[in-house]
Amino acid sequence: MSAIESVLHEKRVFPPSAKASAGAAISGMDAYKALAEQAERDYEGFWAGLARDTLSWHKPFTKVLDESKAPFYTWFEDGELNASYNCLDRHVEAGRGADNAIIFEADDGTVTNVTYQDLLERVSRLANALKKRGVKKGDRVVIYLPMSVEGVVAMQACVRIGATHSVVFGGFSSKSLNERLVDVGAVALITADEQMRGGKALPLKSIADEALAAGGCEKVKDVIVYQRTGGKVAWTEGRDAWLHEIVENESAQCEPEWVGAEHPLFILYTSGSTGKPKGVQHSTAGTLLWAAQTMKWTFDMKPGDIFWCTADIGWITGHSYIAYGPLAIGATQVMFEGVPTYPHAGRFWEMIDRHKVTIFYTAPTAIRSLIKVSEADAKVHPKSYDLSTLRILGTVGEPINPEAWMWYHENVGRGQCPIVDTWWQTETGGHMITPLPGATPLVPGSCTLPLPGIMAAVVDETGQDVPNGQGGILVVKRPWPSMLRNVWGDPKRYQTSYFPEELGGKLYLAGDGAVRDKESGYFTIMGRIDDVLNVSGHRLGTMEIESALVANPMVAEAAVVGRPDDTTGEAVVAFVVLKRSRPEGDEAKQIATELRNWVGKEIGPIAKPKDIRFGENLPKTRSGKIMRRLLRSLAKGEEITQDVSTLENPAILDQLGEAR
Ligand code: PRX
Repeated sequence: MSAIESVLHEKRVFPPSAKASAGAAISGMDAYKALAEQAERDYEGFWAGLARDTLSWHKPFTKVLDESKAPFYTWFEDGELNASYNCLDRHVEAGRGADNAIIFEADDGTVTNVTYQDLLERVSRLANALKKRGVKKGDRVVIYLPMSVEGVVAMQACVRIGATHSVVFGGFSSKSLNERLVDVGAVALITADEQMRGGKALPLKSIADEALAAGGCEKVKDVIVYQRTGGKVAWTEGRDAWLHEIVENESAQCEPEWVGAEHPLFILYTSGSTGKPKGVQHSTAGTLLWAAQTMKWTFDMKPGDIFWCTADIGWITGHSYIAYGPLAIGATQVMFEGVPTYPHAGRFWEMIDRHKVTIFYTAPTAIRSLIKVSEADAKVHPKSYDLSTLRILGTVGEPINPEAWMWYHENVGRGQCPIVDTWWQTETGGHMITPLPGATPLVPGSCTLPLPGIMAAVVDETGQDVPNGQGGILVVKRPWPSMLRNVWGDPKRYQTSYFPEELGGKLYLAGDGAVRDKESGYFTIMGRIDDVLNVSGHRLGTMEIESALVANPMVAEAAVVGRPDDTTGEAVVAFVVLKRSRPEGDEAKQIATELRNWVGKEIGPIAKPKDIRFGENLPKTRSGKIMRRLLRSLAKGEEITQDVSTLENPAILDQLGEAR
């Protein structure tokens, strides 16, 4: 049975415990339904109420939703605010400056506490230093930093002065970094000498130097370098500056730049089915509102909670649930520099124990990989740690199979913690479909029901609703505040990718398939319906990897598909035709390794194909179209049952099938 089939056959239901419901922000299904109905009855009033209660406005808004230029929507447009003010100043002004904002644990275990007062001062100093370098409202700043307090400081400092940040994950290659610097038109880059992960120092500054030297980013006048390891770096005088030196003499006060609600808060690149990664553009008010609101609803955050989201700040989860959401509500969070397996695979559990974490949010991939090691070694098993402070668990980024869900529930949650399986995307800004810990009866593997105000539905290819029990296309029927506003510099792509004409031009197309349960209406996500792969919760376009492969001088043609993988969810399988004859045996292995490393250099190690198979050709129709369907079956090792009569070269299937 496939993972999806097993979810669809799942009969176990875990109702919320009385303890989980007591005092919860949404304390039962009645409360949930009341909110959802309120949103349906008075959509704008519902959102306006949340925006007034949750955010601090410098100038109150009078307009709520403007649909006149659909699908380019605006929310709270005439209101003014500053995200950094909402995340820092207002808590300090309320007398909570001495509360911990971030408990940072470094790779080597060193712990640093950063209070709201400290954070505000550090952000203000860097904001002033950026201003001094000429960075101003509307400019874009690229951040290429490791998991660090400095990463959050950099993001907050940008938005404090009205600059829009674009964070690039530290695992991306110089080529990927260069493409993003160019596309976003950055004026400054904030990076580090090196990053520390799993006891190893990995270069960042040298990759940044390479990216800048590759051209097209002449607008980048300043490179600010956080000294993490003290490792040796090359230096360009006049352009490069050490972060600690430029903030040293800056004032710890910086008046926030008040911006309109729609001002771009950040741009974050993500993969699509075609072309280069898209710069997903998010607005200030809408995205901040939903990050904060979902902290309260999905995670039921209360005073005294210690929240820990293990995502990297280079991904949307690290934006909404590290850099913005927890800070906007004045929470205390743990932030971790390292990896779950160093110095041992019990590191997550040890850290939950050490920091008395109450709410823990991670990815199914991490859980699946830790199951394997901890079932083999009792010392690193969650049962060997005191996890009694935990009250809510969460997952994000990919479907969680019921077995992994049950293991997480029993071993990490001791059967007592609700699991919030949160479905959302870079584009949605925050959670969309998720259980509520005090309300929703849980079914392993299902993300259950949409949050109040989120009009999610399953439709067919023409945009018509399909009955429950029947699979279809996941859409959102009405705009919501934290949705993306545009694809940076490419409004046409925004329109065609997310609001396609075939669906009527008004439904937000998520790119996932889904099915709703016949009785409960619960949603189960069936994975991407486009050419986007999800490897360890990281989104990768098959086309990007194909372009990287064919850029190698040895390669004539390449096709990339996904294959289910026990640990990473999906694995990348590449079918490659070389310009020379088809290699075999050791030679094939050696060329495969070379190509794998090549993709690592072109995109980043996360995109390396797990399996590369060489053929003399690819399966094509007589009109020359590659038959990906067949490649997917071959990748899975399935017998080919499809009709292959239209195939130009059926013999190729045997060759690619056996060429492992
Ligand atoms: O396919 C869905 C999957 O991840 C995609 C979004 O990826 P990204 O933009 O990188 O954001 C990941 C973090 C929010 C979705 O289109 N996905 C995300 N969460 C879930 C999921 N699939 C199933 N269940 C989830 N909880």
